[in-house]
Amino acid sequence: MLPTILDVRTQAAAHSRIVIAPGLVRTLGDSIAEACPDASRLMVASSPRVWALHGDAVARGLGVALPAQDQVVLVNDGERAKTMATMSKVQDALVAQGVDRRAVLVVVGGGVLGDLAGFAAATYLRGIRLVHVPTTVVAQVDSAIGGKVGVNHRLGKNLLGAFHQPVLVAVDPALLGTLSRRERRAGLYEVVKYGVIASEPLFARCVATLEALLDGDPDALLPVIAECCAIKADVVTRDEREDGLRRILNFGHTVGHALEAVTRYRVLRHGEAVAYGMKAASALAVARGTWRAPDHHALVTLLDRMGPLPAIAGLEADAVIAATRRDKKVVAGRLHVVLPTRIGAAVTVADVSEHEVREALRTIGVHGQA
Ligand SMILES: NC(=O)c1ccc[n+]([C@@H]2O[C@H](COP(=O)([O-])OP(=O)(O)OC[C@H]3O[C@@H](n4cnc5c(N)ncnc54)[C@H](O)[C@@H]3O)[C@@H](O)[C@H]2O)c1
Ligand SMILES: [Zn+2]
Repeated sequence: MLPTILDVRTQAAAHSRIVIAPGLVRTLGDSIAEACPDASRLMVASSPRVWALHGDAVARGLGVALPAQDQVVLVNDGERAKTMATMSKVQDALVAQGVDRRAVLVVVGGGVLGDLAGFAAATYLRGIRLVHVPTTVVAQVDSAIGGKVGVNHRLGKNLLGAFHQPVLVAVDPALLGTLSRRERRAGLYEVVKYGVIASEPLFARCVATLEALLDGDPDALLPVIAECCAIKADVVTRDEREDGLRRILNFGHTVGHALEAVTRYRVLRHGEAVAYGMKAASALAVARGTWRAPDHHALVTLLDRMGPLPAIAGLEADAVIAATRRDKKVVAGRLHVVLPTRIGAAVTVADVSEHEVREALRTIGVHGQA
């Protein structure tokens, strides 16, 4: 099968290429050589879990003999590992190896690895080239594309970071075969997000092929991943710095990030938090009369079909609202919230009141103090 090739062209950064094909990892070294013909050396960042599962295949694809311990730095992933401390371990390895400016850092992992090791690539020597080999659904459809890299601060998610476009994003859906059902499903919530904000056909495909997607059927996943990558590439090309359009990618993320923060990243996978956030934003939009009840119903029905979300019933609305105020989406004190207008389109609004957020939280079972 011919790979799908998409190009992200941004003003600030060099051109970033996304290549999507099952089995792509087998020829990863060739893809990188094409993208970076003058690379002095490759460094690899991954996590112990991902490397145990896919390290041999990736190393073979890179043409690297194993074990190449001095070339591979393994750090923990998972949201709680997304810290400056973990990031600096990657920087330490680059420094220790005396990596030069023409080196390329190849990051093999999910969104946490991509974001934190990408941040290391953005900062080491003021930036070395970055290649993403995303290994989760979230990373393949979202985090590996667009150049946002960073880590969490104790007081908030993704508060520390940079824009650093990868020269290459090598998307191999075959890598998803080892994901747990929960991780795969968490990523599929982001796919649903793309459908709601940008593509009615994608939403319809999710509805029609949901079981196959949840089962990880590669034939079902490939076209869905490719469409999400195309949407994200298009949005980022038009608004790299998130001055406007790119904000719509945050649908479900205002409340979602707040829920992740107040549950200290222990209860919800990122995508699960986004699922709650989409339900809340959808309810808010219905209450405003800017999104039709049948569309809300279609979204909630699809999300419910995907299975039960971890319970969040004990949370207090005040704590969640306080967490939304620490979100990066607060601009000049105003909370920007993405609201769908119809399936396939969304807008950002800056005049959402606390009362509206409170009412929306109620619909997902988060109530005010008694
Ligand atoms: N930069 C962006 O634009 C952007 C966009 C969306 C999300 N994100 C970030 O992405 C992060 C979430 O990413 P994630 O959900 O991939 O989390 P993650 O990177 O922590 O991966 C989730 C889990 O899956 C495991 N894993 C990864 N690949 C695997 C594989 N192929 N087989 C089996 N297990 C595998 C990991 O070890 C980890 O335990 C969040 O921190 C979020 O902020 C960033
Ligand atoms: Zn997300």
